[in-house]
Amino acid sequence: MDKIFEAQASAFSPRKPAPRKTALKVQNISIESAVVKNPDTKIMNQLETVNNILSQAKAAAGDNASILEIAKARKPFQPELDEYKPHLGKVAIVTGACGGIGRATAERLHRDGAVVVGMDVNPAIVENLAGEGISGVVCDITDNEKFQAAVDAVAAEYGGIDLIVANAGIFKAGEYIEELDKSWDLHLLINLTATQRFLKFSIPYLKHGFSASIIIIGSRNFSAPGPGAAAYSVTKAGVTQLARVAALELAADGVRVNTVHPDAVFDTEIWTEEALQKSATRYGMTVEEYKTKNLLRTEIKSTDIARMVSTVAGPVFCATTGAQIPIDGGNDRVI
Ligand SMILES: NC(=O)c1ccc[n+]([C@@H]2O[C@H](COP(=O)([O-])OP(=O)(O)OC[C@H]3O[C@@H](n4cnc5c(N)ncnc54)[C@H](O)[C@@H]3O)[C@@H](O)[C@H]2O)c1
Repeated sequence: MDKIFEAQASAFSPRKPAPRKTALKVQNISIESAVVKNPDTKIMNQLETVNNILSQAKAAAGDNASILEIAKARKPFQPELDEYKPHLGKVAIVTGACGGIGRATAERLHRDGAVVVGMDVNPAIVENLAGEGISGVVCDITDNEKFQAAVDAVAAEYGGIDLIVANAGIFKAGEYIEELDKSWDLHLLINLTATQRFLKFSIPYLKHGFSASIIIIGSRNFSAPGPGAAAYSVTKAGVTQLARVAALELAADGVRVNTVHPDAVFDTEIWTEEALQKSATRYGMTVEEYKTKNLLRTEIKSTDIARMVSTVAGPVFCATTGAQIPIDGGNDRVI
């Protein structure tokens, strides 16, 4: 997979990666001038890069500028593309980032250069995402006021928002339509309505972001639903349609919106040992067989989804919006 990614990255830009010092050039002020001020800092790290951009944007926006005015003033200071850290200079938010796909995605975006804030209702996120340029915030995304305040706080802290990943979600299997009641409402609230709110709160900043991108985590269930998962499948169809409309609405502002559709990813909280065993038995398979029952016979891990998300949000997909990208090992019901 890594080889494929590298091949795609080099196909996108055949030129040799610029040396780090020039890659970090911000407008006409190269990072070399910062090195002169601070002889210990040969190369700025990603947090310093974002903070450096923020100070320049603040100076450009003038005294008493609002958070949004500062975000607007940031645009001219976008760093040149660094092939090895394609998200350098960007500020990213990932919801549901305490574990599973969300945590892997937050860590991957950070590794690929972004300053990342993860949000999750689980307080363990604070410990799970602690590092320079990566942090976790406790936030229930169904609480509109707190969610908006958390998004605004990220923009205020780092100067804007360039990349969001709407990942938080719940999945309850084995619930048939005639039994669905509260669980239906909860799926809609967390998986669908909170995704629309996330877009609503972030779009004002994304419109002024650096190569801005929205990634929606969909599901194989969208195109190939199964019985007992109506609530979940409906929400995944909903977010997919939301992404398509958002792509139409935001293209003029240069904001790309794409949906990534994973199939079963077992190193996540959604899949307990018990659920896995039950599903394997239902198919008359061992757990190992069940984990690789796709066409390519490969187990898909959270880190695979994370790499895909970072790639779709990055320069390889710079001319793609409104797309749906499966990452499911090949599924004959989808193909
Ligand atoms: N694991 C799979 O098989 C699979 C397959 C296809 C799609 N997905 C999708 O991937 C996404 C991530 O799921 P995962 O598999 O990593 O599961 P997960 O349960 O490990 O992660 C989901 C995260 O969302 C958080 N969350 C739930 N409600 C929240 C709320 N109200 N506010 C804030 N955070 C909240 C949870 O605390 C959790 O950390 C989901 O959208 C899911 O539908 C998962």
